[in-house]
Parts: sequence; C-alpha cells; structure tokens
Amino acid sequence: MRIPLEAIRIFSDRRQRLAELIPGCALIAAAAPEYIRNNSVHHPYRQDSSLYYLTGFEEPESVFVFRPGQNPESVLFVRKKNKERETWDGFRYGPEAAQETFKIDKVFPIEELESQVPQLLKGVEKLYYRLFKNPEMDKKIENILLSTRLSQGRTGFGLLPLVDADELIGEMRLIKTDAELTNHKKACEISAEAHLEVMHYIKPEMNERELHGYFIYQAMKRGAAREGYGGIVASGANATTLHYVFNDRPVKAGEMMLIDCGAEYNYFTGDITRSYPVNGKFTNAQAEIYEGVLRIQKEIIQTIKPGVPFQTFHEMGTSMLTDLMLELGLLSGRKDDIIKAQEHKKYYPHGIGHFLGMDVHDLGMYMHKNGEPRKIEENMVFTVEPGLYIPADDSNAPAEYRGIGVRIEDNIRVTRMGFENLTIKAPKELSELERIIRNSP
Ligand code: GLY
Ligand code: MN
Ligand code: MN
Repeated sequence: MRIPLEAIRIFSDRRQRLAELIPGCALIAAAAPEYIRNNSVHHPYRQDSSLYYLTGFEEPESVFVFRPGQNPESVLFVRKKNKERETWDGFRYGPEAAQETFKIDKVFPIEELESQVPQLLKGVEKLYYRLFKNPEMDKKIENILLSTRLSQGRTGFGLLPLVDADELIGEMRLIKTDAELTNHKKACEISAEAHLEVMHYIKPEMNERELHGYFIYQAMKRGAAREGYGGIVASGANATTLHYVFNDRPVKAGEMMLIDCGAEYNYFTGDITRSYPVNGKFTNAQAEIYEGVLRIQKEIIQTIKPGVPFQTFHEMGTSMLTDLMLELGLLSGRKDDIIKAQEHKKYYPHGIGHFLGMDVHDLGMYMHKNGEPRKIEENMVFTVEPGLYIPADDSNAPAEYRGIGVRIEDNIRVTRMGFENLTIKAPKELSELERIIRNSP
C-alpha cells in the first residue's frame, strides 16, 4: 500500500521534535491491544494514538522504539508477512515494506522484540513508556528492563528509570501544527455537518439507535473512518445520564434529545453535543433551561484567548451554572456556600470541557504546568460544554424541569488573539433549531 511521502513526513517531523525533547533517552510506544468481541470476532481495531502519532503505522502487534541521536534512531517491530493470515484478515506490511513505506530506520519482526530491545536500550539514560495501557506489553517491558540491566554485567546500576511517555507526548500533541489542524478542522466540520443532517432527519417515534446510525452514516459519507467515541443519543430523561450508552429507545414528541457524537478523521476527532426538542417546538420549561445554558456557553467562549488559565473556564462554568440553578429554583441559598459544599454538582456534575485531538479526552496538563496554573496557548483545541441535568425522580426540583438534560458542546481552537469555533456548522440558536427540525421532511 502506497502512502504519499508528504503524508509520511508529518510523522518524521514529529519524531524530530521529540528528539529535541529527550536527548540521551529512549521512548517506547506500543500498539493498542486487540480485544475479542465474541468467540473469534474482534472489536474494530484502532491504533494507539501515540504510536500512530509517531509512525503512521496502523497494524496491531507493533512496537516503536525511539533513540534520539543513535543509529538506528527509529526502530519498529511489526508482524511478519503471512499469506494464510492475510487471506483471512487482510494485508500486512511485514518488516521490509514497513521500513520502506514509513521511512523508519530499522524494522524487525515483532518476535524479535525481547531479544533486540535490551541491546537498543544499552547506555540510555531514561526510558519513556506509558504503563497500564497494554498489560501484555507491560510484562514485556518488565523483562526488557531486567535484561537491559543484566546485559551490563555486575556494574551495580539499577533498572532504567521509567518515565510516563503520555505526559511528554501529551504536551506535544496539545499544540497543533498546521498539518494537524487541517485534519482536526475536517473532523470537526464533518461532525458538525452530520449533526445538522440528524436535525433535518429526526421525527418522533424514530429509535435513538436509528438516529445514531444516521449520524455515523453521514459522518462516514464525508470521509470519517469511525466515531471518535461511543455516541450518546439520549431522548427524554435519558439525557440526564451523562454517558448514556444504550441508545435504544423511541424518541417522543414533547421531549428533548441530547446527541453527543463526534466523527474521527485521520485520527482526529470532533466532540459535539446538541440538545433540541424531538418535534421542533421547545416547551417553556425546556426553553428556559436551554437558553440559560446557551448564554453561559457563549459567554465562556467569548473569553477564550491565549494566556487565560484553563481553570478560569471551569470556574466561570460553575459560577454561572449555579446562578442559573438559583434562578430556576433548583437550589436555594448563597452561591458561594453552594459551590463550597459542591451542591451544584447535583445538576452539573462534570467540568466545562477538555482538550481535544487524537483522543476525545486528550492528553496534556490541565491544571498546572511547571508549578504555574496552566494557561491556554495558540493552537490548542478544547471543548466548551456546559450542561444542566435534572433527574426525572428529583422531587425537590420544580415539576416542569424534571427529566430534562441539556448540554451544548463546541470545539474551540485558540488563535493568536482569541478563538475559532471549529463546529460552527452545527446550529444551536433556539429559533434555528426549531425551524430546521419542524421543516424536516
Ligand atoms: N463525549 C464525551 C464528552 O463530551 O466529554
Ligand atoms: Mn466533550
Ligand atoms: Mn461530547
């Protein structure tokens, strides 16, 4: 399989940047494990984001070893060619073609991992590796660390110090290059367009699962490889379950929908939530909550610019949503006391947003960096997703609000002076939502 050279360069450029960060050290990134779904069938495979980020290689059972400044500097272990297995499971590169195609210095068969890597790690200062993502690989790393130490003879040196690779790669992934932004913007745009298509399509009595399938269809039609996470398609009181997964109920006129779905494109994902009435007409109670959450979301987005601590957005969200809870009569008392006692969490239990990139909840330091509050920087992308969720059985809440869940989520890029909303194509104004849904064929 041919991959254009400029597409491969994106990966070698990243390795070059990484090389500057860890001179004298080594980094190992392992493929995501395969998981059995049932009997001899696997869950759809998706490569580990960090391995893909550094190599572009998508096959399971592969391991990348990086040793800045050494020869070979980049080393990949992959499955051998196997005619019979390829007849069943499809093409695999094998070491020779992988080396040529992905411009890796040296590629070995995966069977040689434990015999080659201890040699490759000799004399290295520290090893960057993320434990606990792949238990089988963790075991191999343990053996490799022991062999590396033994191979040095009786020197008295201890095991190679292990450092979390995700923290390092997370910070690299957090600030996006132009090439990365091209892919990420496309993922967000596809996600927004697919949301709009669902708004045009929805009708009472459709099943949540049909709407979910329709989102995926519209995303894939536009080039998405898959969803970036399991989509949440929640009608009525299901919307008050934050990560509702069943997606199997018929949607009812008079109720609201909450759809939190995102498309993945070239390993970047969108993450959009829209909430709207199934029949295109907000009730007064639904509109009060919706307009309140929308106002807060817009206000927070307007404050985004480089230099603002990420924590500020969390604090704004908590403060303004607590005001809204007081306005609606969901809570009573003094705002500061409520927040101190965390009472607002009853109706707003999550944070205001998260970094977004190759993983939906992306890596990167949120709260602090180098002992200072983490400030946002140009070309970070994150979500802004305030929400209010009133459980159906909450007898303390005014009756008209019970069973309503609203979240509004957009994907924002930090620009040099402010922000860019990457998901603008998904409508969120109340009147626009009503018009689109009521005019659906
Ligand atoms: N889709 C999960 C989230 O919004 O965080
Ligand atoms: Mn999100
Ligand atoms: Mn989401």
